[in-house]
Amino acid sequence: MVSPFALDKQNQTPRKARIAILGSGSGTNAAAICSFAEKKESTYEVGMIMSTSPHAGICDVAQKYSIPCEILRTDRDLSQQINQILDQYNVEVLALAGFMKLLPPSVIEHLMGRVLNIHPSLLPKHGGKGMYGIHVHEAVLKAGEAVTGATVHVVTNHYDQGRVVAQRALTVPGGIKANELQQLVKRVENQLYPEALEVFLRNS
Ligand code: GRF
Repeated sequence: MVSPFALDKQNQTPRKARIAILGSGSGTNAAAICSFAEKKESTYEVGMIMSTSPHAGICDVAQKYSIPCEILRTDRDLSQQINQILDQYNVEVLALAGFMKLLPPSVIEHLMGRVLNIHPSLLPKHGGKGMYGIHVHEAVLKAGEAVTGATVHVVTNHYDQGRVVAQRALTVPGGIKANELQQLVKRVENQLYPEALEVFLRNS
């Protein structure tokens, strides 16, 4: 990857790294990343967004920020489609945000491991297969955790494993319901993910 700090020869400003976002959820993390990327001091720009559903909120985020959005066909080989799109848009880093499937290993290889994901717990707690959405927060409450939070990690071929890039914790309020906790954690996620991308890019 070209350093995000390499100077653009034409205007002598630091060149921004080009990231893509892949997800099929409501798109709050994508919106937070796009908003952060618009700041002058951000080291990255969002080149495109991919989704497996044209109806996902993340597609509305793409429209709001005038970012190209590509819809993946789930009845066809995903790795081929994703890798082709990554090349087409010269993507250097892929940020998963609400992508429910295991990313095909060839995509991780294609980007030489430069793929991040966000998970709504303090990994390694409450991660792994089946641990997504409300199930994570139900598990946190069932375990009687005093603290929960969000984790941004490098994606590997196993669910929710890989080097932790950043984590942020919050106290679990007494008597809170799982759906309320999900909303609290989502706010933490939306702050953490854009910053974690900066940390990752500055250290890569
Ligand atoms: C987030 O809770 C994230 O941790 C998980 O999927 C959810 C996506 O939410 N991987 P959103 O679409 O970014 O609002």
